[in-house]
Amino acid sequence: IKEINIGLLGFGVVGGGVAEILHRHQEDLSHKLGVPVKIKKVLVKDATKKRETELSPNIFTTDLDEVIGDPGIDLIVEVIGGTSEAKQAIEKSLRAGKGVVTANKDVMAQFGHDLLKLADEHKCDLFYEASVGGGIPLIRTLEDGLASDRIRALTGIVNGTTNFILTKMKHENKTYEEALAEATELGYAEADPSADVDGIDAARKMAILASLAFSTEVRLEDVFVRGLKDIQDGDLALAEQFGFTVKMAGSAKKDDDGIEISVEPVFIQNSHPLASVNNEFNAVYVYGDTVGETMFYGPGAGSLPTATSVTGDIVAACRNLLLGVNGKRLHAPQFAYKVKSDNQ
Ligand code: NDP
Ligand code: HSE
Repeated sequence: IKEINIGLLGFGVVGGGVAEILHRHQEDLSHKLGVPVKIKKVLVKDATKKRETELSPNIFTTDLDEVIGDPGIDLIVEVIGGTSEAKQAIEKSLRAGKGVVTANKDVMAQFGHDLLKLADEHKCDLFYEASVGGGIPLIRTLEDGLASDRIRALTGIVNGTTNFILTKMKHENKTYEEALAEATELGYAEADPSADVDGIDAARKMAILASLAFSTEVRLEDVFVRGLKDIQDGDLALAEQFGFTVKMAGSAKKDDDGIEISVEPVFIQNSHPLASVNNEFNAVYVYGDTVGETMFYGPGAGSLPTATSVTGDIVAACRNLLLGVNGKRLHAPQFAYKVKSDNQ
């Protein structure tokens, strides 16, 4: 292999960031891998749109088959978002024997277990670090760093948009609408921001994290969800008065009776570190039998932080291609637990 060529699906907030990092850090990456990594084709909805990029406009296309079917493309990076087209694109790539890197929590929370099996069947990698926690490397931490431990619980803030909204409402007296508009403008919110404010985006991420932490198949419907609209008028002021902060928190716990996963607005005492996690930042506590308590903190959304996780996956997938060990899945779920969360 003399170089590795990427087919990039999507050139929005995250896709644009991926192209920028691959361009800015191209020399470092070539040194790390021993071969250059290049974007060969880019799939977009509108190929005529003017875009600020070093990439040639000639490589932009609206034809998925032109990207996946290109024999010179080694790896597909899916950052178009949504479910139906993105899922089809991932399946098509894996069936064509091409590894996939995705930032898509929607697809991974609903279909991740099946897609990982499909990747296995076709001896391809399927990496999804950016699907949870933006720039915080949580997936690999659970898969590798804490692999020998028995994780008992995970808790924290896993949605940047709602944390941004709550921060702006508390510290800058912004209205909910103003804060949401700002989060959208900054590229933090989902294409349909109701996924953020209704807690669904956080629920997807908790399903992904809990699956890895407990080595089981947690599905989105296993997560109990309440969104920002469940915050009552006056709750923020009441919290302030008694020394608390309102945060959207995710929680996943396992005991002898099964597992329980939820996402909901909660009151957190101001002295607790999670109360000081502001704006689009995320923080996740992991409690393990042997490691004890660990906390992971960083930017949970946004172009370059998220693209850093995506390009980290690209480097991992390239290494595997170069070593000829792509598609060797070592993290298949092992256990089945009763889900205790009451979703009614
Ligand atoms: P954007 O809406 O900014 O970009 C989407 C891109 O995909 C655009 O370039 C668009 O083309 C292209 N696209 C959309 N639908 C299609 C389609 N059917 N066919 C071809 N191209 C298509 O999204 P983001 O970059 O914000 O998000 C991408 C993914 O990353 C999502 O899964 C999201 O959940 C995830 N993610 C996002 C984070 C963030 O902070 N934004 C953080 C973590 C994950 P065109 O440019 O022509 O419109
Ligand atoms: N909309 C998501 C968030 C993007 O605000 O957290 C990062 O996954």
